[in-house]
Amino acid sequence: MIKKCLFPAAGYGTRFLPATKATPKEMLPVLTKPLIQYGVEEAVEAGLTTMAIVTGRGKRAIEDHFDISYELEHQIKGTSKEPLLSEIRSLIDQCTFSYTRQVEMKGLGHAILTGETLIGNEPFAVILADDLCTSQNDSVLAQMIEVYEKYQCSIVAIEEVPMKDTNKYGVIAGNLVDGTKDTYRVTDMVEKPDPKDAPTNMAIIGRYILTPDIFDILRNTKPGKGGEIQITDALLEQAKQGKVIAFKFKGQRFDCGSVDGFVEATNYFYKKEG
Ligand code: UTP
Repeated sequence: MIKKCLFPAAGYGTRFLPATKATPKEMLPVLTKPLIQYGVEEAVEAGLTTMAIVTGRGKRAIEDHFDISYELEHQIKGTSKEPLLSEIRSLIDQCTFSYTRQVEMKGLGHAILTGETLIGNEPFAVILADDLCTSQNDSVLAQMIEVYEKYQCSIVAIEEVPMKDTNKYGVIAGNLVDGTKDTYRVTDMVEKPDPKDAPTNMAIIGRYILTPDIFDILRNTKPGKGGEIQITDALLEQAKQGKVIAFKFKGQRFDCGSVDGFVEATNYFYKKEG
């Protein structure tokens, strides 16, 4: 049973400067809701209620968001504005939130390792809130949990990207699992390969289910691409033992870590909700 969802949210978000100088990237809103709230809602939809968030300096707004704001709530109580807080209040009622800080930003793998203290020795989900996912039926994480229940190993969500973009992602190679059209047993993984070196165009997006042995592997993972400790390198160790499944999810992902993706997501949700 997976109960916990880890949110690495310590990155600097340099692509959104100056907005992210004093505001966490995860708090940038698509319409009226911050990115990380979409992520928490997705986790709740998948049945997870223990949120573990890896933050860093300048990220206090995330903690305040998932807390009561007495003054504000007192002020709008009984007015027509009160329902505007009902979604976030319901999340706060349903979930627990715990936090730890990544002191030095040494990469996503390092951020996940920093979260070990909140996760312990159990399988867990990871959501990168800047990848905003939406789907018609089951949420992307809910789909992945179903896959996990079948294979009981680490699961990465993948999508096909234009070959010229492989240098923005971790890219996998793998073999379709018998009888499926969307599930691959991973044989290789490369972090941000040049298109000419990419094994495929199947890119890992910001959704993972990880088994807890990943922590020991991460402890022994040397800095890779960009001098950062890469989760892709650690996952490759599990993949060599046949213990990583890549799953082509049903739904849509917006790369809200980039301005283009953020604008696309905003337009999409504006149309959907308008
Ligand atoms: P990104 O590669 O998007 O980096 O991180 P970033 O710093 O957030 O943004 P840019 O590239 O400077 O604009 C992917 C995810 O990993 C987290 C980020 O918060 C984001 O969710 N991360 C990355 C950490 O938590 N710690 C790190 O050291 C690096």
